[in-house]
Amino acid sequence: MKPYEQEKLNKIKEIIFNIPKLNILELGVQKGNSTKMFINICEKNDGHLTSIDIDDCSKVIKNPRWTFIHSSDDNFEYVDKYLKFNFDVLFIDSLHEPNHVRKVFYHYFKFLKLNGIIIIDDVVWLPYVKGGEKDNDFVERINRLTFNKLLEIYNSNKENLSLNIDFLGSGMAILRKKNNQLNEENKIKNRLFTIKNILKNIYSPKPKK
Ligand SMILES: C[S@@+](CC[C@H](N)C(=O)[O-])C[C@H]1O[C@@H](n2cnc3c(N)ncnc32)[C@H](O)[C@@H]1O
Repeated sequence: MKPYEQEKLNKIKEIIFNIPKLNILELGVQKGNSTKMFINICEKNDGHLTSIDIDDCSKVIKNPRWTFIHSSDDNFEYVDKYLKFNFDVLFIDSLHEPNHVRKVFYHYFKFLKLNGIIIIDDVVWLPYVKGGEKDNDFVERINRLTFNKLLEIYNSNKENLSLNIDFLGSGMAILRKKNNQLNEENKIKNRLFTIKNILKNIYSPKPKK
């Protein structure tokens, strides 16, 4: 694990470690780095972790506080049968694709308690730009689209959600559920590509002396 990945897990731990009897839903297990960190807190706080992965990760750990669901996390008909409506934390780290993130976010939101925390991993595109430390055309684009999708969701739900972005490494979004309602997201009408702004970029006037 890269040092910044461990640092990110430490930050998540700091946010949730004092929630008593915490109930966590994790999307994406792989080798279990986040899973092990969550189980560690569950053991201290009398909590429970439910994790979903499309691959069979059932052997990653063995712990009575862990339930593993071997499924795609958008196979809602199957997965929902195993879930109760009382999660304190939702951790989204499965398929890093904006439409998928949106789909699972909207679906699992209703399983969260009021004041519940949603953490979405890998939403920052800065490390992937040309010449950046992880220079990668595809991930730069996909993370930017996910980042923008989150801004759209937040912009349509300011009274229902709070949103903070942590820019460490490939970043994570930290949201809090303030309301049971969740509105559909709308496109943000920013002025980046208006003719006026394009002209301003071309003829950017120099400040008068
Ligand atoms: C980035 S890794 C998870 C890393 C893990 N959370 C950690 O911190 O160590 C992504 C995982 O998501 C899983 N995955 C990808 N698409 C999925 C889907 N549609 N449903 C469930 N899991 C999926 C992959 O099999 C992979 O194990």
